[in-house]
Amino acid sequence: MAAAVKTLISGVFVILFCLLFGFCQSLFRGDTFKRQVTMELNPGSTGPHLGVNLLHIRAVGRNDTLHFLFCNQGAPTLLLVHTNVSSSIVTVNWTLFLARNTSGSLKIEPESSVLYSTAVVFSRLWEYNDLNDTADPTSGFFPPYELQDFIWSPLNLSDMTALLCGANATSISGSICFQLSVFEMGGRGLSWPHLLHTANSSQVKVWLDGMLPRANNSRFLLELQAVSESYPLSRVEVHQSIDDEYTPSVFKVFQWVSAPNSISDILGFVQWKPVAYRHSNPSLEDAMPCRHSDPHPQNSEAMAASSGVIRAFYSQLKPFGLNVSFGLAGDPFYINTKFLSWTVLVGIGSPPTDSFSPVVITIMAIGLGTPLVLVLLGGMWVCMRKRTMESTMTYEPIN
Ligand SMILES: *[C@@H]1O[C@H](CO)[C@@H](O)[C@H](O)[C@H]1NC(C)=O
Ligand SMILES: *[C@@H]1O[C@H](CO)[C@@H](O)[C@H](O)[C@H]1NC(C)=O
Ligand SMILES: *[C@@H]1O[C@H](CO)[C@@H](O)[C@H](O)[C@H]1NC(C)=O
Ligand SMILES: *[C@@H]1O[C@H](CO)[C@@H](O)[C@H](O)[C@H]1NC(C)=O
Ligand SMILES: *[C@@H]1O[C@H](CO)[C@@H](O)[C@H](O)[C@H]1NC(C)=O
Ligand SMILES: *[C@@H]1O[C@H](CO)[C@@H](O)[C@H](O)[C@H]1NC(C)=O
Ligand SMILES: *[C@@H]1O[C@H](CO)[C@@H](O)[C@H](O)[C@H]1NC(C)=O
Ligand SMILES: *[C@@H]1O[C@H](CO)[C@@H](O)[C@H](O)[C@H]1NC(C)=O
Ligand SMILES: *[C@@H]1O[C@H](CO)[C@@H](O)[C@H](O)[C@H]1NC(C)=O
Ligand SMILES: *[C@@H]1O[C@H](CO)[C@@H](O)[C@H](O)[C@H]1NC(C)=O
Repeated sequence: MAAAVKTLISGVFVILFCLLFGFCQSLFRGDTFKRQVTMELNPGSTGPHLGVNLLHIRAVGRNDTLHFLFCNQGAPTLLLVHTNVSSSIVTVNWTLFLARNTSGSLKIEPESSVLYSTAVVFSRLWEYNDLNDTADPTSGFFPPYELQDFIWSPLNLSDMTALLCGANATSISGSICFQLSVFEMGGRGLSWPHLLHTANSSQVKVWLDGMLPRANNSRFLLELQAVSESYPLSRVEVHQSIDDEYTPSVFKVFQWVSAPNSISDILGFVQWKPVAYRHSNPSLEDAMPCRHSDPHPQNSEAMAASSGVIRAFYSQLKPFGLNVSFGLAGDPFYINTKFLSWTVLVGIGSPPTDSFSPVVITIMAIGLGTPLVLVLLGGMWVCMRKRTMESTMTYEPIN
């Protein structure tokens, strides 16, 4: 009998321990991979650089390095290069880089250490007049804003982030901004949608602020192009995500991936949740769904011409492009807030996957644990009572 009680008690402890362990694991994520991150503006530049800011971020791992390059010349571009040594460097021939007409002016050396590279170019902003509020982006388009023609500010650098804002030369008010964040280790973004990141990824938050729409019913699309030499980002996968306190009522995560074939490992990715926000300091009602088109091969010459970094680094390229459209039928039009923000993660290797958040684990622990503990305590009480009664009965004849 005592053995049974012991088993019960240890059972309760094992279950409580498991729940506690799950809780702690979800708090600390078990992702202990770290990189040492340093930032450098205009590497190797001595002379004047005509307002061009080239940011180089080195993220050094145990035996590898991730180089991030971000530039204010042409369409906003983020280039990622992964090498298998911790000593690889960037070399720029500034004369050629500024001329923007030859490849090879931006190099990662030693070139034999390069394992994989990919770049994301934010090429165009499309605007259409959604007269009938159908949010069907097939007609009513205005001429697109070519982001390569925008006037871009110098990069504003702060701890692990770089901010780039620009506007069309002719527009009087408003801007489009790109904020790049890099990470020493895994974690979550500070602002909604609180994307999960690893040390192998970077985050780009894009927002439109105060730009005047060309119609009262205007909605926007952002055109992205992904560039790679060998294995382009050619397909978009959808995964279920968990509805938790980080992104309430968003159940999907999309990842635009590069993989040599469908069963091999992912080499590079762009990942996002299908949600945009209508306020700079959003609450739940300011969330707005977004959709994307299928990736299509793009013209490589036009691509290289639009971005200084792409022209300088790649000699041959395979660009794929897609559009992300913001808002569904019935959602408020852009003119209501004149603000729109959207966030993506860009990285190498496997994209991060969501697991249950601490809050969800706690709720599960309370929800599942309490009845379990009650049942076990009840069982124990019945056992003990039975035992007391048995022992009373055994001792009775002696009395
Ligand atoms: C890094 O490389 C060195 C030699 O190049 C090797 O001895 C070491 O085991 C490697 N470390 C890891 C973590 O791969
Ligand atoms: C940059 O390239 C030009 C043309 O190829 C060359 O003349 C020049 O020496 C190079 N500059 C450096 C610093 O390598
Ligand atoms: C690049 O542009 C410069 C002037 O900006 C010109 O002198 C040079 O011939 C061009 N090179 C190529 C390869 O087009
Ligand atoms: C890095 O990768 C290249 C090409 O994949 C290979 O030739 C080289 O030996 C590798 N170097 C190290 C230190 O692993
Ligand atoms: C809007 O609806 C009207 C009437 O239903 C139709 O004639 C028109 O073509 C529609 N416009 C667009 C842009 O879909
Ligand atoms: C740079 O960004 C910080 C906040 O990130 C902002 O306070 C500051 O005004 C910005 N500087 C310029 C020159 O835009
Ligand atoms: C952007 O500016 C260019 C000239 O700098 C102008 O031709 C074009 O119409 C402007 N685009 C929009 C959408 O205002
Ligand atoms: C990041 O990449 C390195 C090198 O490819 C790998 O060893 C590490 O496990 C990755 N970390 C995460 C969190 O994906
Ligand atoms: C847009 O809305 C404003 C105010 O609601 C109105 O005055 C204006 O005429 C509208 N413009 C168009 C093109 O419908
Ligand atoms: C984005 O949408 C516009 C307008 O429909 C279209 O012309 C363009 O080709 C699309 N871009 C991509 C990469 O699909």
